[in-house]
Amino acid sequence: ASNIAPVIAIDGPAASGKGTLARRLAAHYGLPWLDTGLLYRAVAVGVLNHGAALDDEPVAVAIARGLPADFADNPALRTGEAGAAASRVAALPGVRAALLDAQRAFAARPGGAVLDGRDIGTVICPDAPAKLFVTASAEARADRRYRELAARDPAASYDRILADIRKRDADDASRAVAPLVPAADAVLLDTTSLDIDGAFASALAIVQRLLGAP
Ligand code: DC
Repeated sequence: ASNIAPVIAIDGPAASGKGTLARRLAAHYGLPWLDTGLLYRAVAVGVLNHGAALDDEPVAVAIARGLPADFADNPALRTGEAGAAASRVAALPGVRAALLDAQRAFAARPGGAVLDGRDIGTVICPDAPAKLFVTASAEARADRRYRELAARDPAASYDRILADIRKRDADDASRAVAPLVPAADAVLLDTTSLDIDGAFASALAIVQRLLGAP
């Protein structure tokens, strides 16, 4: 299996740890990494900066078509508000279609790639040799988010974060196009009772087995 380009597809809900696992797997294998959530976040922030509504599909599609050429990661994309707004534009079929080619092109790099998101194993890279679906209980995810935020924001509320996570899960899983669902051949990794090093060790063992290479 080692002559297959190592494409590693990582999906899972908000705050499951998939981004950290994707970054560490990419570093381990020396592969480029695409955090596809940033594309939806960039579209959402672009729509808002344009003064349009988050369900204005023609505007959102025009902005999505301009990506990733004008795309730059920045801290404004990483906020909770940008994530919630991203979940709204991500439900627009035209936006998903406009972002498809760029994601597939990234995955088709000859040396392989790591992509993380919601629909990588199901829609973007259905033939990826290694698919992980990373989960954790909503409470564990809210607790991680809370610890991150509370360090900076004393007004952070665990109950509010948990409610937001539950809403985002429901919205992402129930949308008509590319809902959050594990691919039939994805390996599930539940990180509820793992710390980040434990989760990485488990993820690496799974990926090594699936790629059939060290
Ligand atoms: O992974 P994230 O929190 O950055 O993603 C933000 C939102 O973008 C998420 O709630 C749903 C959407 N998204 C998506 O629909 N498909 C992807 N491949 C990645 C993100």
